[in-house]
Amino acid sequence: MQERAFALKRAGKTISCVPTMGFLHQGHLSLIRAARASADVLVVTIFVNPAQFGPSEDYRTYPRDPERDLRLCRQEQVDIVFAPEACDIYPDGYSTYIEETDLSRWLCGANRPGHFRGVATVVTKLFNIVQPDLAYFGQKDYQQSRVIMKMVKDLNLPVRIEVCPIVREDDGLAMSSRNKYLNPEERQEALCLYRALSRAEELVISGEYSAAKIREEMEAVIGQEVHSRIDYIEIRDGKTLEPRDQVGEGTLIALAVFIGKTRLIDNLVIGKVPG
Ligand code: PAJ
Repeated sequence: MQERAFALKRAGKTISCVPTMGFLHQGHLSLIRAARASADVLVVTIFVNPAQFGPSEDYRTYPRDPERDLRLCRQEQVDIVFAPEACDIYPDGYSTYIEETDLSRWLCGANRPGHFRGVATVVTKLFNIVQPDLAYFGQKDYQQSRVIMKMVKDLNLPVRIEVCPIVREDDGLAMSSRNKYLNPEERQEALCLYRALSRAEELVISGEYSAAKIREEMEAVIGQEVHSRIDYIEIRDGKTLEPRDQVGEGTLIALAVFIGKTRLIDNLVIGKVPG
């Protein structure tokens, strides 16, 4: 892949990259479509990255369907699919990691120690292998996108990061490979994340800016579902991810909720997503 990327570069071609863990859905495809028009060559990476899963998390059971993924990539006219094996990315004796130490501390980083270290490491490696001019990420994983933007800036990586909006099912549930884990009852209950965010938005529109009040109302919405357990509801600055008492332009409202055993995340940015 790296040799091919260097050859493309020598021929004056630009490269865009969409890193994924596969089991592609419309959220991934929206990134692929945005990336398609932005460069001469589009590379999609498919790699379920063991380094970003905790020991008690779902690395082994994470949904995989490589044939379907390839078919979808072909349909979307992806030029190259890079789908390495774990032993190629982390051969025996592998010992180097990248860690962003500020934005990674909060939210998902607080309850998933090592998660963003795994993400930052694999994304750096994928960038080094694929040599993209541009790379596309989803707002669905808001904190991830900020950590990657910060890492690219801090390490002077020559890659432009683009962040695309959250793609949802018709009823509002944010698309995610992990939605596959939900049984029909849980699938209904999972709507509480979107409902809580919609309630928060309504409150802001009606002039309620108190983070405490908004969080309280969101907790009440989530609490209505029997199989729900809140991991976090956070109201933070969309750029620094520092806590905010008052909601305003560029504030992030993010939540992680277990529905049964499945942990789902979703978020909303008030006004424009900060650059
Ligand atoms: P994965 O969960 O497969 O997601 C790949 C990309 O698709 C991420 O940038 C994610 O934010 C985006 N995405 C997922 N669901 C989305 C939705 N509903 N709407 C818009 N975009 C969505 O995120 C990862 O993989 C990994 O951490 C990775 C970056 C590949 C590193 O291993």
